This record gives sequence, structure tokens and C-alpha cells, in this order.
Amino acid sequence: MVKLCVIGTGYVGLVTGTCFAATGQRVVCVDKDASKIERLNRYEIPIYEPGLEEMVKENASAGRLTFTTDLAAALRDVDLAFIAVGTPPTHDGEADLSAVFAVAQELAAHTARDLVIVNKSTVPVGTNAQVQKLVSDAAHDIQVVSNPEFLKEGGAISDFMYPDRIVIGVRPGHDRARRLMERVYHPLNLSNTKIVWMNPESAEVTKYAANTMLAMRISFMNELAVLCEEVGADVQSIRMGVGSDPRIGSQFLHAGPGYGGSCFPKDVKALVAAARRHGIELELADATNRVNVRHRSFLVRKLKRHFGGDLAGKRIAIWGLAFKPGTDDIRESPSITTIEFLLNEGCEIVGHDPEAMENVREMFGDSVTLVDDAYDAVKDADALMLLTEWREFQYPEFGRIHELMRTPVILDGRNIWVTYKLGEQGFEYAGVGIQHESA
Ligand SMILES: NC(=O)c1ccc[n+]([C@@H]2O[C@H](COP(=O)([O-])OP(=O)(O)OC[C@H]3O[C@@H](n4cnc5c(N)ncnc54)[C@H](O)[C@@H]3O)[C@@H](O)[C@H]2O)c1
Repeated sequence: MVKLCVIGTGYVGLVTGTCFAATGQRVVCVDKDASKIERLNRYEIPIYEPGLEEMVKENASAGRLTFTTDLAAALRDVDLAFIAVGTPPTHDGEADLSAVFAVAQELAAHTARDLVIVNKSTVPVGTNAQVQKLVSDAAHDIQVVSNPEFLKEGGAISDFMYPDRIVIGVRPGHDRARRLMERVYHPLNLSNTKIVWMNPESAEVTKYAANTMLAMRISFMNELAVLCEEVGADVQSIRMGVGSDPRIGSQFLHAGPGYGGSCFPKDVKALVAAARRHGIELELADATNRVNVRHRSFLVRKLKRHFGGDLAGKRIAIWGLAFKPGTDDIRESPSITTIEFLLNEGCEIVGHDPEAMENVREMFGDSVTLVDDAYDAVKDADALMLLTEWREFQYPEFGRIHELMRTPVILDGRNIWVTYKLGEQGFEYAGVGIQHESA
């Protein structure tokens, strides 16, 4: 049996370690954050990811999954070490690789046998080669593999257990690495069709290419949405009209408040920055980011126009704070920039989210009021903004909302209530890229 360890127990590392353990393999998960490890040892999950808590409990109590802060001890008998630490953006848009390099150096210093380092963090092209060089003086042979992760928060377990593809970048001659990767992924690759082998440079670019292409679709639809509102067109119809073409496909064509999350914004910028270092201007990727940055203020500008150019003193209810449903992650969430814009305009904000309120409280403290009941948020509100399309917001009691609000203005940032004829129910209703409805 391959013995493996995973360093970094965030969204990617914890899911990776737990899912490998669920296939019967022995996994040690390592994190430098002692409080995280303490919680995990009590089977408490530091993040919200559907189904993960039960899986951690099951595999940890079966002895297949353990948690520690002690990397040296964790490395005992380990053949494969997965790096899944964060690679946040620096101020100039590059990926900060300090955690990746630090972990690689620790691995090289502590391994007591030949080792394969698998980089799962999203890193710019050339990082594999840098890590390989960094560990070249180790006492044992270390082969470095690139294995970017494609899981989606909110559906991470099924994405990991039933992958569309497993991208593995391995250098020619690194046969031990290739063999171990085949073995560790065997349970997820029973059809023998999932692994896409390539060199590490291609694997590194593949990850950024996938995220940038998806982000590009969103930015394009958001640009079209702005045009639609000007010319009397409907972005929803256009989405269906173009998405039904199998060459285009229907996913990632929803206009909204702009893309967010821990990956798209930073990965698009990091791809542009990495290309620039090689003297290449990736204009489409750069424009994707610029459109998104501009679009982030779209909803607030619209609200301001509605209130005659002045939002000072307005009480705004926000439903949905996580960057998408199914997660508590608020990194680069559209709700964060929206809140910042609204606070700058002098608004009072009352927010609600099923999972992300603790993280928002940590970020904004007392400047945003957070309430456990979505209807408490709309009480005396001048406008309701829907920013995350959680399932529980799909069919709210609009009669009750109308009664509770000071002025019945709804800005539906995800176009989930478009078909409800809210104008006829007494609301001023607007979405993104659709025609407004008046009471
Ligand atoms: N979140 C996603 O949906 C997703 C999807 C695919 C790829 N990725 C990529 O995977 C990587 C990890 O992302 P994440 O969202 O899981 O990050 P995260 O911030 O949730 O978790 C990173 C973890 O690494 C730990 N860590 C940092 N430095 C360490 C060190 N020196 N030793 C031990 N532990 C250390 C941190 O304490 C933290 O728990 C990033 O490169 C990200 O771009 C993320």
C-alpha cells in the first residue's frame, strides 16, 4: 500500500487526504495551524463542505486518516507527499509561492527515504522545475510531480472521487513517480481513462487555462448583460440561445455580480503575470480580469441610480455572502466588494447567509449587521440585494418581504427570480442584463 501525507488541510488538502483515505489508503494530514489540527483531531471540520464531516469521522475513527502539525513525524514511511498549501496573490497579481517552497524544503530536510513530492497547489509554470531544483541536494532521491486540482467547493467530494480527468505532469525518466501516481489514483481511475499524462509545465498551464477559460465566459456574459440592458435585449434568452449550441455548451454563461472565490480572480491574474515574465501579453485573460473588476460595482451603481444618485443612510439587505452556494468561503466574494462599496456610500447593511456569516463577521466586525433569519434582514430595508443563489432563497415568501421592507426594491444579482413577475407583486425589480419591472 502507498503511504501518503498531505500538507495543508484547507479546502483542497482536507478533501484530498480524506478522499484518498476513503479509498482504503493510509493518509497523514499536516498543517502548521495547530488550532485547525486540534479541531480535526476532535473530528470538527474547520470549513463547510457538504459530506466532508461524516467522511473525516469515518476514516479517522477507522485509523486510516490522522492529523498532525509535525511534518517530520508524519513523513515516516511516506512515499508520496502532496503539497496543498495556499498560493494567494501578491500585490502585483503573481502567485505567492513562499508556502510551497517552504514545505518542499521541509520535506527534503526530513524525508528518511526516496520521496515523490506532488504539487497540488495552483502554481505558475516553472514552479515544478524550481521545486525540483530546490530539493536536489536532499540526502534521498526526490521526484517532483505536478498534479493540479480541479475540485469545486460545494461539490468537492464527488469532484474528487469521480473526476472528469486527473492531470499529472511528470518528467521523462521519473518512473517511480509515475508508478506511485498510478497506484494512488487507481481507485479513482478504474476505467483507466481518467489520467491525462503530460510534462509538468503543461500540467501547470492546464490548471490556469481551465480557470481562465471559465472566467472568460462569465466576463463575456457580464459585458453582454450591460449591452442587453441598454438595447432592450435579455441576457437569459441569449444564454439559452448560445448555450444550446453543443460547441459552446451551457455552463458558466450566467451573468451576475462578477466572478469571485479563492481561484478565478487570483488564477486569471497569475496567468497574466506569469506570461508577462516571459514577455508575452495574454490580452484575453487580462481583459477577463479588467471586465470583472469593472463589473463588481455594476449592481451598486444601478442601485445608486435607482435612488437618484444618493445611497447615504439607506438600509440595504443582502442575501448571500459566500462566493457561491454550498461553501462558507468568502475569498473575493462579490458580496465583499459590494459591502465595501455600500459602506463607502454611507449605507447600513444587514446581511444573511446560511454558512458564511462567521467569516464575514471576522472581516467586517460591527460595520455589518448579520442576522440568522433571512426575513430579519429585510425588515425596514430600502432594498434587497440577492448575491448568492442558495437553494433556500429560490422560493421566498414575497408577500412577507413586501410587508417587511421600507421600500420594495429588489436587485437580483443572480437572476433567480426573473420569472416571478415581481413587478405585479408590487416590487421594483431588477436583475442583471434583463429588463426592469416596475410596481
Ligand atoms: N479552494 C479551491 O476550490 C481550490 C480548487 C483547486 C485548486 N486550489 C488551489 O489549491 C491550493 C490550496 O487552496 P485551498 O483553498 O485549499 O487553501 P486554504 O487556504 O484553504 O488552505 C491552505 C492550508 O495550508 C496550510 N499551510 C500553509 N503553509 C503551510 C506550511 N508551511 N505547512 C503546513 N501547512 C501550511 C494553511 O494553514 C491552510 O490550512 C491553492 O493553490 C489553490 O489555488 C483551490
